[in-house]
Amino acid sequence: MSSLAVLGCMWGDEAKAKIVDYLGDRADYVVRFQGGSNAGHTIHHAGQKYVFHSVPSGILYPASKCVIASGVVIDPFALVDEIEALAGLGIDFTDRFYIDSRAGLVLPLHQELDNRSEKLLGDSKIGTTKRGIGPAYADIASRVAIRFGDLAYPDWLKERVVALYLHHHQNVVKSELEELLDRLSKAYDKLKSFVCATDELLRAAYMEDQYILFEGAQGTLLDLSYGTYPYVTSSNTISGGICTGAGIPPRMIDKCLGVYKAYSTRVGEGPFPTELLNEIGDKIRIRGNEFGSTTGRPRRVGYFDAVAAAYTANLNGLDAIAVTLLDVLSGVEDLKICTGYWIGDRRLESFPAHPLDLAQVKPEYLDMPGWEAEISDCRSLGKLPKAAREYLEVIQDLVQRPIELVSVGKDRNQTINLLAKK
Ligand code: IMO
Ligand code: MG
Repeated sequence: MSSLAVLGCMWGDEAKAKIVDYLGDRADYVVRFQGGSNAGHTIHHAGQKYVFHSVPSGILYPASKCVIASGVVIDPFALVDEIEALAGLGIDFTDRFYIDSRAGLVLPLHQELDNRSEKLLGDSKIGTTKRGIGPAYADIASRVAIRFGDLAYPDWLKERVVALYLHHHQNVVKSELEELLDRLSKAYDKLKSFVCATDELLRAAYMEDQYILFEGAQGTLLDLSYGTYPYVTSSNTISGGICTGAGIPPRMIDKCLGVYKAYSTRVGEGPFPTELLNEIGDKIRIRGNEFGSTTGRPRRVGYFDAVAAAYTANLNGLDAIAVTLLDVLSGVEDLKICTGYWIGDRRLESFPAHPLDLAQVKPEYLDMPGWEAEISDCRSLGKLPKAAREYLEVIQDLVQRPIELVSVGKDRNQTINLLAKK
């Protein structure tokens, strides 16, 4: 096996980066294939906290090559800032960072459009991260986007930028245009040595038996097509997104590992069947530090939703799952897992596609015994309280996928590896 996808399988923030970091020591390549700086991937290592937005989480391993593939949308200014901040922490990028020339750019215009759209939508807003992600992907689909490779051709770039503004019915003042082009040129000077055809690079690496780790951003329920539309992000977050986002044939994805929190969270608007609008939710939010790493917003908190989880496991074709933040549930009384959805007297057989249906489902719950003990120091399943083991078993049975990893704390080593035990 030489490639592994690590995918968020709910509404994002599943602690994917922690899992990517845990598994990253064996990766020759770590690849972001969708999303942009809406992602906030946090790693705690050796007393230092790192938050990545566009840079793949594998960058902390000096031998890992990190790739931003064509399906990612890149804010070039934010990327330069991110790289410089990491370089300031002593992380050397020079010969192991790659950016696909076909990646679309997120420009200040996209952030303005994102902000304006959210404001205009009022109560119907999506609750975006306001990073310009939706407008940037929309421009790619409209064929007016500026792509990374355009930065190498100043005259062409100028024409494309003017066309982009025209497309949005905006006249760009000459001085503003010159200023933008100047800033882009400076950013490009700092980034151009990284630009290449990353799809070729990755396919060749795969053929040479290099180990490739695909790092998902956001989560399956935020997928543009299969998520809780319209309250989704604008990229395909599911395993299929790797093919289009990184130029990788389906057969080159050898294993899909889905990441689930031991409970659920969601940021932004949209239906959330198991949401806890009570002190249990508040307790989990505080214990889990459920505040956005990109926007600082408090996250909405709910019980583990096995209906949604089984849906996303099937969509992604998961081989196995990782359960994260189990330690947060120590001391939470009244634990439950959602095992079914009801609308009136009808038990649904599948996850509803329409937001109005999802908004009115009543969750069916299985009461679970809780546990008091803190578990952050447990390094094997056997060390966990019986109730915590039972909790994991129920998740495994309902999602119908084996649990391979359990995270019991922020640090790389606060991980129970069930494969290592076997
Ligand atoms: P990571 O990779 C959680 C959510 C936003 C909003 C919706 C659309 O850290 O898990 P967008 O700015 O993408 O147009 O916003 O998607 N969202 C995320 N939620 N984690 C993320 O990334 C997210 N990226 C976007 O809150 O509801
Ligand atoms: Mg996040």
